[in-house]
Amino acid sequence: MSLSEVRIIDLPKILDRRGNLSIIEECKHIPFQIARTYWIYDVPGGEKRGGHAYRENKEFIVALSGSFDVILDDGREKKTFSLNRSYYGLYVPNGLWREMNNFSTNSLALVLASTPYNPEDYVWDYKALLSSK
Ligand code: TYD
Repeated sequence: MSLSEVRIIDLPKILDRRGNLSIIEECKHIPFQIARTYWIYDVPGGEKRGGHAYRENKEFIVALSGSFDVILDDGREKKTFSLNRSYYGLYVPNGLWREMNNFSTNSLALVLASTPYNPEDYVWDYKALLSSK
């Protein structure tokens, strides 16, 4: 996959005097069925996550609280996406090298994934990822 497939998706935001509500429905707001949900939290200052790619898994990442950066690389180009609102998220197709860093205190990253957890789906070697393209 190339970086051109990556996109920020705005989510519905229902505002009223009691506060805000946002929604994600699979195959409607995001382009896949959700097989798994996980979240990343209590990240110590200066820590990085990721450092791998997925062969098949696609993800949608939302900063439910606080802020962090997602750095994506397709071997040709590298792009940083700063997430800091809970009413939009980043669609990350499979096959891209990714890191996450710059986590603010108390940030909460929600990740919706298209496949169940499978350690075999991970590519840990950047060079191997490039040679598979
Ligand atoms: P990892 O995918 O390396 O996290 P990140 O990409 O955010 O740095 O996962 C960290 C650990 O959690 C690793 O031991 C695998 C485990 N894990 C699961 O058991 N199930 C999951 O769905 C995920 C995402 C991770």
